[in-house]
Amino acid sequence: MRKKILAANWKMNLTQPEVKAWLHTYQTLDWSALNASLRVYPSAIYLQDIQRAGLHCGAQNVYFEASGAYTGELSIEQLQSVGVQSVLIGHSERRLLFKEDDTLVAQKVSACARAAFPFILCCGEAQDIREAGTHLANVLAQLSENLRLLSSADLHLLVVAYEPIWAIGSGLSADLDQITEMQQAIRNHLVELFGSAGHQVPILYGGSVNAANAEAIFSCPNVDGALVGGASLDPLVFHQLWKALQA
Ligand code: 13P
Repeated sequence: MRKKILAANWKMNLTQPEVKAWLHTYQTLDWSALNASLRVYPSAIYLQDIQRAGLHCGAQNVYFEASGAYTGELSIEQLQSVGVQSVLIGHSERRLLFKEDDTLVAQKVSACARAAFPFILCCGEAQDIREAGTHLANVLAQLSENLRLLSSADLHLLVVAYEPIWAIGSGLSADLDQITEMQQAIRNHLVELFGSAGHQVPILYGGSVNAANAEAIFSCPNVDGALVGGASLDPLVFHQLWKALQA
């Protein structure tokens, strides 16, 4: 059975006092669960605060080179040396705002595989692609490109997050039919690319997941959890999503 995952992507939010307050409230709540794991992807300066609180701490980004003259970047080895457990790769904000292309994303995937470092690969289509009706082909092509350097032996490192760009931060999540269609297509594609091991890869949904829609989204086939932005910034709301995941 695939493990469920609820992951908070804090993006460029929260000051250190706010992180401390988040963790303080977190410690007062019951996060016990069967077969589910909680992850937090904070700004890099807070990674160790998350780790010291006993949470799975993940980085929002990584560079594929091991070390050297890459001002402002972090390597996998550096992340591992402070106890970081995984990384987000290919978030649409990195692709769109910071011009990360499929080649760079594939290099990051390959670096994670070499270092046996778990990663969440984000994929998703823009509004115009959805309107043109080519969303399935678009997302599956992203996956083929981004995963072309990953072998089946390293598939256990992979989690996929489907995040339609038009649903991110918009308050308008994809509807259940749209989610079901895409998650199934991604599952089939993973099996095409990697054989039956593709059934073991968790596939998350992301894009305006909130306390009101989480339970319905988690009931869709092939939704193994969520990657959550805005609704993860308040630990009380995030806890409601955690409860919805167990329902
Ligand atoms: P929101 O939950 O704020 O829509 O963000 C989703 C996202 O981009 C998570 O990576």
